[in-house]
Amino acid sequence: MTIQTIETFPITGQKPGTSGLRKKTRVFMEDGYLENFVQSVFNAIDGAKNKTFVVGGDGRYYNKQAIQIILKMAAANGADKIIVGQNGVVSTPAVSHLIRLNKTNGGLILSASHNPGGIDEDFGVKFNGENGGPATENVSDKIYHNTTIINQYRIVNEEDVDLSKIGEQQIGDMIVEIVDPVADYLQLMKKLFDFDCIRALFASGFFLRFDAMHAVTGPYAKAILEGELGAEPGSVMNGVPLEDFGGGHPDPNPVWAKPLVDLMMSGSAPDFGAASDGDGDRNMIVGKGLYVTPSDSLAVLTANAHLVPAYKEGLAGVARSMPTSAACDRVAEKLGFESFETPTGWKFFGSLLDAGKVTLCGEESAGTGSNHVREKDGLWAVLLWLNILGKRKQSVVQILEEHWREFGRNYYSRHDYEAVPVDAANQLMDHVIENLTELPSRRFGTLTVSRADEFSYHDPVDGSVSSHQGIRIYFNGDARAVLRLSGTGTEGATVRLYLEQYVPSANIFNLSTTEVLKPVREAVLELAKFSSYLGRTRADVIS
Ligand code: G1P
Ligand code: ZN
Repeated sequence: MTIQTIETFPITGQKPGTSGLRKKTRVFMEDGYLENFVQSVFNAIDGAKNKTFVVGGDGRYYNKQAIQIILKMAAANGADKIIVGQNGVVSTPAVSHLIRLNKTNGGLILSASHNPGGIDEDFGVKFNGENGGPATENVSDKIYHNTTIINQYRIVNEEDVDLSKIGEQQIGDMIVEIVDPVADYLQLMKKLFDFDCIRALFASGFFLRFDAMHAVTGPYAKAILEGELGAEPGSVMNGVPLEDFGGGHPDPNPVWAKPLVDLMMSGSAPDFGAASDGDGDRNMIVGKGLYVTPSDSLAVLTANAHLVPAYKEGLAGVARSMPTSAACDRVAEKLGFESFETPTGWKFFGSLLDAGKVTLCGEESAGTGSNHVREKDGLWAVLLWLNILGKRKQSVVQILEEHWREFGRNYYSRHDYEAVPVDAANQLMDHVIENLTELPSRRFGTLTVSRADEFSYHDPVDGSVSSHQGIRIYFNGDARAVLRLSGTGTEGATVRLYLEQYVPSANIFNLSTTEVLKPVREAVLELAKFSSYLGRTRADVIS
């Protein structure tokens, strides 16, 4: 085995965002770009010598080439063994599980999640630690620092590995084990859920449509939903993973999964609709005629998880990202456990899960998960819903109606302003931050600001502090607007505006979300001067 030490130089802009490093695919294909990042990861964890890692990706364009580079670099850096999913395709939650199951030193995940794939679209890479979750802030900072001082990387000059062949191969002394990406994940799901109950649900004539969006969950959903649980063949749509996701955005929300949502709103809707994203960690849940917001889904799952084997002892606690609605907090309060508000990004849930402080966690951006892995998990969320539906023998609509009657309803919506010039986005945020202390008691239409701050998180487990995590503005005590800049975009800046209004025991069919949220939207557009800074008030994507 010939190890080559290649001279390199720091490439600017390799700062990982909310979920690792994301850039245009062509950028990743530039000489040394991926290599610099991967070497910086190894350097940040005191080298790869004698270590074991998992490597997998969502199958998008450049996935296989990137995996070959990583394998050759791991061999050159002295790793013992790499576990790779067959054809390099593994969902993000399944990578997390493989890391934990095999007690490896971590793993590398190749994905740009829900962003489109292709040579002119997006690519990404992130490092997960030995708990199976995204690298901590500390490790991410080290990786980034290393990318700014790197001057060489190591790689072997060897043949490519055959990624399609299950079993062991070798690069020099390093073992490459190619595994079936679905098998271990399926075993885990069988342990968590009552498969017989879900089987009985399908046997009773319950119809489901799962949109895999031509992304990674296709093979998982077919094997589990159709194969194991007896959902009608064809229940999984767009089930063949494609390098460009069929040209679409593999993002499970009413905008990008419109065909499924349209079906669910039509007269021929099945009982349950669900979708997952590029790398299989996000989920969308739709009932007959009713889209369930991710915040409501987290709240319903929090209230009902005890009906399912894995959570029958009840939950230790629940965590939600700051912009996620407070619906799950109300459930936690009533059921008598703690709820945590963390910054956006899954890594913050990891320390709470590791410490046993929470069992479930979720984000408004269609991410829900539990202590079974250290990533959000799309298919897991679908199975949890199905198990609850099978137990309660009620429809999604009935469950939501009962939930809102009991806890009240947090009307919620997220408005994204995309491809905004970076300067304009920063100026808008800076302007609000500079005026934060003057906001309380100011009136905007019918609303009065009751509190305004910049969110700063004190991790209760390791004591670390993460500041500047977004602006929170509360009105009248029961409405809230949040403003933050996206950390995952690849073009300009994205301003995210999150709107929320609590209505006690509302009649869900009488109020439209747009109407309920109109006052808080108008208030925040005015106080943050959207027209002056962005030249517009209309968002590009409303979800
Ligand atoms: C977005 C979501 C966030 C999620 C992340 C990764 O990040 O808003 O909740 O954790 O993608 O899936 P953002 O672009 O807002 O930084
Ligand atoms: Zn994702």
